[in-house]
Amino acid sequence: MSDAPRAPITAIDLQTDRPHSARVYDYIMGGKDNFAADRDTAATVLADWPGLRTSMLANRACMHRMARHLTGLGVRQFIDVGTGIPSSPNLHEVVQDTAPDARVVYVDNDLIVLMHARALLTGTPQGRIAYIQADMRTPEALLGDPTLHEVIDFSRPVALTVIAMLQFVEDAQAVVDALLEPLPSGSHLAITIPTDELAPESERLAREYTSRGIPMYLRGRAEIERLFTGLELLDPGIVPMPRWHPGPDERPLPDTATNMYAAVGRKP
Ligand SMILES: C[S@@+](CC[C@H](N)C(=O)[O-])C[C@H]1O[C@@H](n2cnc3c(N)ncnc32)[C@H](O)[C@@H]1O
Repeated sequence: MSDAPRAPITAIDLQTDRPHSARVYDYIMGGKDNFAADRDTAATVLADWPGLRTSMLANRACMHRMARHLTGLGVRQFIDVGTGIPSSPNLHEVVQDTAPDARVVYVDNDLIVLMHARALLTGTPQGRIAYIQADMRTPEALLGDPTLHEVIDFSRPVALTVIAMLQFVEDAQAVVDALLEPLPSGSHLAITIPTDELAPESERLAREYTSRGIPMYLRGRAEIERLFTGLELLDPGIVPMPRWHPGPDERPLPDTATNMYAAVGRKP
């Protein structure tokens, strides 16, 4: 046995006594990386809106369609903010299926996401996958991360994907503006974003999350339009999420089945 000093084991506080958005989402979608506080929150919100799981699955499906669409437009670099606990297929799997050389940087501020992402997110040998822990509310720190600059070439177009994430940010406009600022012409912004204008249960859901320490902000169409100021909105514009280029095999959902709008814009 070696006498060499051992590296200290650092305790990480995963705050398992309180719900976290990534883990509640994981539980509702059938994942295993969650704790009692997350499951309790999930049970309460599902009791009020049993269709929430359908809405969340529709969000994943929309993310897949957007990733394929952007890859089809020739985009080969992605910054995905608010990654979530990995659940296959993740964005890089969809993208690298068509473009094995594509590069994806995942960003999240949740430690559990970080631990799983490091273990599970491996891509093709031709491409690059990286994971950084950063908070979207401090975009300058996120943009200054050395790993981001190692993987992403800021002289070439980038897709900034912010999927089911902006509801956790009070000043979404400031964050989106800051993250788009360094991206060159031909870059894209892809979002799915909760609103109180579609599913009638949305406001109660937001109140429940907020009361449990996960502040949730809902946006109307006008506010979402402003996020795309200076960008060219791609067809079909800002639409209820299931209407964003539905796949031929996807069951059409009514507008009230989800609480999300979806849109993609291009930086001219
Ligand atoms: C509802 S999940 C969405 C995951 C994935 N984008 C998807 O659509 O399947 C929201 C994610 O955003 C992350 N998140 C919440 N607030 C954040 C912040 N301020 N900065 C970075 N990530 C954040 C959570 O940890 C969680 O993983």
